[in-house]
Amino acid sequence: MTTATTIFRQLFEPVSSTYTYLLGCPETGEAVLIDPVMPAWQRDLQVVHELGLRLVMTMDTHIHADHISSASQLKREAGSRIGIPAVDALPCTDVLIHDGLPLRIGSIRVDPMHTPGHTDNHFALVVGDRVFTGDALLIDGCGRTDFQSGDARALYQSVRGKLFGLPGETLVYPAHDYQGRWVSSIAQEKQRNPRLGGDRALEDFVDLMANLELPYPKFIDHAVPGNRQCGQCPPELPEHLRQYCQEMAESPQG
Ligand SMILES: [Fe+2]
Repeated sequence: MTTATTIFRQLFEPVSSTYTYLLGCPETGEAVLIDPVMPAWQRDLQVVHELGLRLVMTMDTHIHADHISSASQLKREAGSRIGIPAVDALPCTDVLIHDGLPLRIGSIRVDPMHTPGHTDNHFALVVGDRVFTGDALLIDGCGRTDFQSGDARALYQSVRGKLFGLPGETLVYPAHDYQGRWVSSIAQEKQRNPRLGGDRALEDFVDLMANLELPYPKFIDHAVPGNRQCGQCPPELPEHLRQYCQEMAESPQG
């Protein structure tokens, strides 16, 4: 049973309200970070080292639009390999993430699950009785579907047809939360997710997502090209966006 012994930390990055997940193998000392974020790379690496682990891989669930991944920075600093969905075909990828092809970090087995809809190439990552749902399924919510080849019909199928097929007790760890919630479960989201839970019908969901009237994502024009290079900060960011590439002032930890 992978997660019985897996070392686990949930780390919060406040600029983009992103959760980064650290998984460590107690036998080999190898560690992986899921969705690491640029302003927090030093904090994240420090946590890895404090646990006596060695960072061997980073994995991004998708090409993010709301922050810059620290995958490349961590590769430079720690030699970790960069895992990205294979369908994105980024030349900077070291480890290709394929649907249904498990990846191993020591004794940890990661099962990638293609969950398109927020982006067409989005993946959830199943590790034992935990699922890292990226921006597909959030706690009481889901990722938006109006950019990056988003598709509400595909997201409905990914969440209700795939993620909701996991055992109810599976713990749901999202890539973001904006209200201080940390973890949920498949059973809870099936029951009470206001967008996708209960008996929500496909056409209702498509209609709901088409009428959210969300503002244009303020960092997307910088983040997407930066993340298509596995996490490169643009050379000249406007003042109000520099926090996305600056080191965190404090080190909040989960
Ligand atoms: Fe996203």
